[in-house]
Amino acid sequence: MKKITFLLFLLFSFSSLSFAQNESKTLVVYFSATGNTRAAAERLANDLHAPTWEIEPAEHYSAADLDWHNRLSRSSVEMNDETERPSIKQCTNIMPYDTIYVGYPIWWGICPRIINSWIDNNLPQLETKTLIPFATSGSSSIDGSVDYLRKTYPTLQWKKGMLIR
Ligand SMILES: Cc1cc2nc3c(=O)[nH]c(=O)nc-3n(C[C@H](O)[C@H](O)[C@H](O)COP(=O)(O)O)c2cc1C
Repeated sequence: MKKITFLLFLLFSFSSLSFAQNESKTLVVYFSATGNTRAAAERLANDLHAPTWEIEPAEHYSAADLDWHNRLSRSSVEMNDETERPSIKQCTNIMPYDTIYVGYPIWWGICPRIINSWIDNNLPQLETKTLIPFATSGSSSIDGSVDYLRKTYPTLQWKKGMLIR
């Protein structure tokens, strides 16, 4: 009887260990300026039993910064210049993960430049990861942003993107 109990204990320990390992291999990374993508990321992470990591800009985006009607606003200036790489507050430890969901709001049909900053900061480690883009938007599809990411970072393994409403 003792032997059976011990075997059951071992079986349970191994299965929960491998479950925990599976869980820890997926990370949900996101940037959100006004909270929509954060809410989507939290729902997704909850469904996947995965941790989240928020890409926080070194300098917070104010409402004026986000005014897309103003061509001189910070977001307009950044989106008009492909080489812009807004600074990020803290770096992410992506080492333990092999699948990373990358979330962002659609800005001008693509991802905000801070997503480029995050990718650039994490190259070349990202080359061994599976990357799954997800986004929130006013009405645009995610496809243009995924095409842009594939074209800009052709050595990364981009999967089909998901627009979360
Ligand atoms: C600078 C800027 C540009 C945007 N461009 C688009 C766009 O091209 N297409 C679209 O459908 N929505 C656009 N939006 C709306 C956002 O994608 C949408 O509100 C998103 O859910 C915001 O996510 P967040 O709250 O996580 O920042 C834009 C918003 C901002 C601030």
